[in-house]
Amino acid sequence: MKKIYFNEVVTRDGFQIEPNFIATDEKIRLIDALSQCGYAKIEVTSFTSPKAIPMLRDAEEVMGRIQRVPGVEYTVLVPNLRGAERALESKADELNLVMSTSETHNLANLRMTREKSVASLSNVIRFVDGHVPINVSLSTSFGCPLEGVVLQSVVEEFSQRFADLGVRGLTICDTTGMANPAQVAQMAQALTKRFSDLQLTFHFHNTRGMGLANILAALHNGIERFDGSLGGLGGCPYAPGASGNISSEDSVHMLEAMGFDTGIDLLRLLAIARELPFIVGHDVPGQMIKAGLPLDLHPIPAYVDELRNIAE
Ligand code: COA
Ligand code: ZN
Repeated sequence: MKKIYFNEVVTRDGFQIEPNFIATDEKIRLIDALSQCGYAKIEVTSFTSPKAIPMLRDAEEVMGRIQRVPGVEYTVLVPNLRGAERALESKADELNLVMSTSETHNLANLRMTREKSVASLSNVIRFVDGHVPINVSLSTSFGCPLEGVVLQSVVEEFSQRFADLGVRGLTICDTTGMANPAQVAQMAQALTKRFSDLQLTFHFHNTRGMGLANILAALHNGIERFDGSLGGLGGCPYAPGASGNISSEDSVHMLEAMGFDTGIDLLRLLAIARELPFIVGHDVPGQMIKAGLPLDLHPIPAYVDELRNIAE
């Protein structure tokens, strides 16, 4: 069975766009439950400006109070040096630095040009100096809702610059669900060939219903690491039209049904996912929560039994 590394991002990407503050205790309870499911990584929170992302203003407290399970990496999103200092103080296992491959989205989201982001993140990498591994998330890599097309060559160029700075991994993000499977296949082929020594993760949003198809396209072209969000929550508040990530439990269900080994306990995950609407106070997009497992059979209607008797 081929191993797939699955990362959970619900308490970061999932929660950051929610309108109502989710209590710190709820976040911690959820992360502790998810820690028991077999994820490779959990992106716990972000060390961003509390003005930019008020939902995650409790990042220090959350990082300080979660129960860390050996084998799970607890990663955090970081946009600048201040964020990196906070993340290291909180003993994050990995720093997930972020910038956009589109100039306009970078300005909207991080309030700086792409070049300023590269300079700022380069400083972070020097500052961290190998004490923890660095991943870089490249937002809008398959298209930008404000600018349109983002060329694959631009994604490769930024990837190369961070590879040259010695990062461990890159996450290629489809921030507003603009990717299609043919485009994903091409991107996966190019990046796995060019950056074969890096951890390459693909991060999809299901905005246009192509999330699972995009996973398969990436998978068939050498990608074995994926981000997903419980219940399919999520989105960047500074990307107009953003909607939920691919649902973790829908993705894990598909992969396991196809014979891949995600290491994730799907039954446990589904039980946690079913609590999510109560935590966020609304319905969530994930489909497995509603449908259940294919072999959760329904009671046979009485008239079918009657028909069976007549047939006998
Ligand atoms: N953590 C906490 N506070 C921070 C911070 C960080 N990482 N970075 C900046 N700040 C604070 C500064 O101390 C300053 O505070 P003050 O107003 O009390 O003096 C204030 O934020 C403004 O600082 P500045 O450096 O001018 O930042 P900015 O206003 O240009 O914003 C970012 C830049 C990157 C900090 C901000 O846009 C951000 O956090 N964006 C994250 C967006 C995001 O997470 N999107 C979703 C994920 S893709
Ligand atoms: Zn995202």
